[in-house]
Parts: sequence; C-alpha cells; structure tokens
Amino acid sequence: MDAEAAQEAAAQADAGFLWDFWYPAARSTEIRGQKLVTAMLLEVPLVLGRTSEGKVFAMRDSCPHRGIPLSYGRLDGKVVECCYHGWRFDACSGQCVEIPSLSSQDKLKVERIFAGHYPCEERDGYVWVYMNSPGTRLPETIPAAPALAVFGDKYKVTHLSCELPSHIDHGIIGLMDPAHGPFVHQSWFWRKRGSIHEKAKQFEPIPNGFRMSPHSPSTNSAPYQLLKKITGEPVTTTIDFVLPNIRTEIDQSGKMWFSSRATVTPVRRDICRIDFVAAWNLFFLPVWIFRIFGKIFLRQDQETMIQQAEGLKHNPRLMLIDDADRPAKWYFALKANLIESRRTGAPMVHPMDGPVTLRWRS
Ligand code: FES
Ligand SMILES: [Fe+2]
Repeated sequence: MDAEAAQEAAAQADAGFLWDFWYPAARSTEIRGQKLVTAMLLEVPLVLGRTSEGKVFAMRDSCPHRGIPLSYGRLDGKVVECCYHGWRFDACSGQCVEIPSLSSQDKLKVERIFAGHYPCEERDGYVWVYMNSPGTRLPETIPAAPALAVFGDKYKVTHLSCELPSHIDHGIIGLMDPAHGPFVHQSWFWRKRGSIHEKAKQFEPIPNGFRMSPHSPSTNSAPYQLLKKITGEPVTTTIDFVLPNIRTEIDQSGKMWFSSRATVTPVRRDICRIDFVAAWNLFFLPVWIFRIFGKIFLRQDQETMIQQAEGLKHNPRLMLIDDADRPAKWYFALKANLIESRRTGAPMVHPMDGPVTLRWRS
C-alpha cells in the first residue's frame, strides 16, 4: 500500500464500513444504452454503465489525470472518454487506451495507467459492485454476488427501496429489531398494538451471521393466517442475517412460497439505503397489492429513522437490552470479530456458541 492509499484508508477506517463485500449500487433497469450513471457506495463515487455487449461495469467516478468525474465524459459502448482532455479508458478493466495529447516523441506508457474499477455483476435486478478496501489489490477469487432464493421458475418479483439518513449500523439494527413492530408498524392490515404478546424464538449461528430457526410465524399477523387458511398447511418462516448487510426471509406453506431479501447499503457514513426484493408464487397476491403494503412498511421505517437521526445528532448514550436487542449485539460482535480476523489472519470467532432461545414481547 503506498502512502497516499494508506492515508485514504486511515480516513475511511473509522466510517464503520465493511469492505470486501458485494453491495447493490443501482437497479439493472437504470443502466441502459450509452448512459453513464453515477452511484455512491461506502463514500466511493462510482460511474456505472453497460458496454455494447450488455455487460455492466463500475469505475471510480474520477479521472486518474486530474480528477474530474468520468461520468461527465461519454461511453462509446466499450471505452469511456474523459470530457476534459479526452483520455480514453477501457470500461471493463479501467485501463487507459489512449491519451490524445501525446506526440510521437512521448514515451509515456499509456497502458500502465488505470482508472479505478471494481468487479461488477448483475443479479436479481441489481447491479452489484464488489468494494475491495481502498489501497488493496483484488483477491484472486471473489465470491459470486448474493442471489435471492427462489423455488421454481414461475413467480412474481418486485423491488422497493428507500434511503435512510442513518449510519449503516443504525440502518441494520433497525432492520433486525423485533420490538419496534407493534409501535412503528401498527396498522389494520398487519397487526394491532393490542396484539403484543410474549414470543420465544430459537436462533442459531450460521457463517458470518445468525438464523431465526424455521418456525411458525407470529399468530398475530394477518397475512400468515391467510396463507395458512388457503393452503391448509402450516407456514414455516426462516430468517437469516449475514454480514455485511443482508436479511433474508423465506416463508413456505405446502407448495406456496414467499422469499425476500433486504440489504442495507452504506452510501456515506450518514446515509444508507434499503433495497428490498421479494419473489413469490402466491396466486392470490398480485404485485401491485404487495407494493402498496410494502411501501407503507418501508415508509414507516423511514419516518422512524428520520426522527431517530434528529436525536442522534446530539450523540446520546444508547442502550442495547436483552433479549430484544440481542440480534443487534450479535451484529456488532460479528462485525468486530470479522474485522479482527481480517487484521490478524486468524479464523473468525463467532459470537454465538450454539442455538439459543430469545424471549421478548412484540
Ligand atoms: S482530467 Fe480526464 S483527461 Fe484530463
Ligand atoms: Fe420495520
């Protein structure tokens, strides 16, 4: 790592981001034609586009010559040209292919110049970018981008997203918080505040995360009751959280299934974004109905996070209590242990010893 990169790394070290993971940067549908689209992940400005062969790419939105955003330039289907002095970069590798000002006397090795670029993949309707930590080389092999679990090839799918004025950690612990439901999400179609009751759920460790073991979902949620009535079979739900930011939920009842994934992605240290994708084969649930309720839900979370951000400006002391906030404690421990294991090279210590039952009222 050179001094400049080390400095950049130090500045970014305390932002609380987890590097070396895939993050969704944009919806696939936004990246079309010869358009250059900007995005930001972990405070890194990105320019995204699609080659004429249809492959998506992600470059750092900064010309290595004098730093002007490459997104002001243009894409010819293969090469991104900077708007300032016309340097041209291969879109997929970031390698410089031409510097128009060079004369026949110049010895500069154009091919040794690279614009920052990141691995980029399309999956489940998102463009994912693998954010390797600043100043490090990409490892030889990187895992595939996360994929939503689906069961069969006939299903409906929809995407929702919303931005939160929150640090990634607050976004994530808000996402997995079991105790806010009766207060933030009370509504006639989901559940009433009066339906609050004691729950006991078993959790188990999984690599880089934890699982709420398969169970029958809460009897006070109307949609689950409906599903059970229709199939005549029990409903089972499995909910996983895995680092850096993924919550998945799979509900199954007979041949019917519903699968969803929410990711909370750090944009900057004070902004994160929830991207929610769901797929299902429930014949009685049209996409438009799901979207109406899904948007209400996300809006309720978003409004709460906006209010919380007001309070967090003043750096209050915070509490995590047992058992309702135990998943949040696991998240912080997983994150710290992962960072530690990357630092030392030792295997990551999982904060859970084995299955454990948590009890709370919600
Ligand atoms: S700043 Fe991009 S070519 Fe000069
Ligand atoms: Fe919520």
